[in-house]
Amino acid sequence: MRALITGITGFAGSHLADYCLERGDVDVYGIIRWRSRTENIEHLEGKIKLLECDLRDATSTRRVIEKISPEYIFHLAAQSFVPTSWHAPTESLITNVIGQLNIFEAVRELDLKCRIQIAGSSEEYGMVYEDELPIKESNPFRPLSPYAVSKVGQDMLGYQYFMSYKMDIVRTRGFNHTGPRRGSVFVASDFARQIVDIEAGRRDPLLFVGNLDASRDFSDVRDVVRAYFLALEKGKAGEAYNICSEKAHTIREVLDMLLALTDAKIEVKQDTTRLRPSDVPRLLGDSSKFRNETGWKPEIPFETTLRDILEYWRQR
Ligand code: GDD
Repeated sequence: MRALITGITGFAGSHLADYCLERGDVDVYGIIRWRSRTENIEHLEGKIKLLECDLRDATSTRRVIEKISPEYIFHLAAQSFVPTSWHAPTESLITNVIGQLNIFEAVRELDLKCRIQIAGSSEEYGMVYEDELPIKESNPFRPLSPYAVSKVGQDMLGYQYFMSYKMDIVRTRGFNHTGPRRGSVFVASDFARQIVDIEAGRRDPLLFVGNLDASRDFSDVRDVVRAYFLALEKGKAGEAYNICSEKAHTIREVLDMLLALTDAKIEVKQDTTRLRPSDVPRLLGDSSKFRNETGWKPEIPFETTLRDILEYWRQR
């Protein structure tokens, strides 16, 4: 089985590569841009094949897909940080929507027999009302950021290419996921890294936060990449699936859980630059459709995930 992972140098991509290699039945291919940071996949040197490609360039994308001729494509490459999408909306939309369009067009023109998973997001649902919780796949999209709009665009493009050309596309809508290697701008990793810097005396005992009232449905990245693989093994073409733990925590609770895992005495302070023009207040998903069709269930408790993130930053 030949699998191409876009975004292999990133957080979820590198964990998915680990999972594919552990299975032992997958030849893992990844694409990198010439400036990509490769620290997340250095331990995989010699075990995966990397090709240079920029997904925003149709020629580059087609060339690489023709060369690999993958049976599975996991499309995880994206501009994935919500606040960046307000500073750089054009970049976010082009990278996310046009990058995916180039993959679809390459697969279509080459007439490849290939299953494609696209990594949508719970951010697509955006403004969800209390009486709509837990969120099902049928919930309306009310995106609250350019990032969320880009993910709606990817999702709808997946639907349209399935309907128009019968392409074998499965849409996953991942809720928040975290774990070791998570970029330090994302909330749990950001707080963990600040804690570890304080423990090591590299900064004053002051931890900066944004909106602690938001609530998110968190999973461990290692459970989520297993779900991505199952989506292509067992998911139905054209369908969309929520991937989530069905347990929500406020960001204040996440902070308190992390603070309970350190001996350092830390003062918490709001940094208003961390507040967003609009923040999704509450995400809590219903993943019964995916669980029923694939048998997936998350296995790693959230407390273990948070411990592992702290340990990751302590080791670095
Ligand atoms: N990053 C960050 N830093 N977020 C903070 C902070 C802080 O200091 N303080 C509070 N928050 C709040 C944010 O306002 C948001 O409500 C929540 O913590 C989570 O923020 P992020 O970790 O940045 O993730 P996200 O929910 O915006 O988006 C993530 O999950 C999506 C799926 O729901 C990303 O991984 C997206 O790529 C993904 O699609």
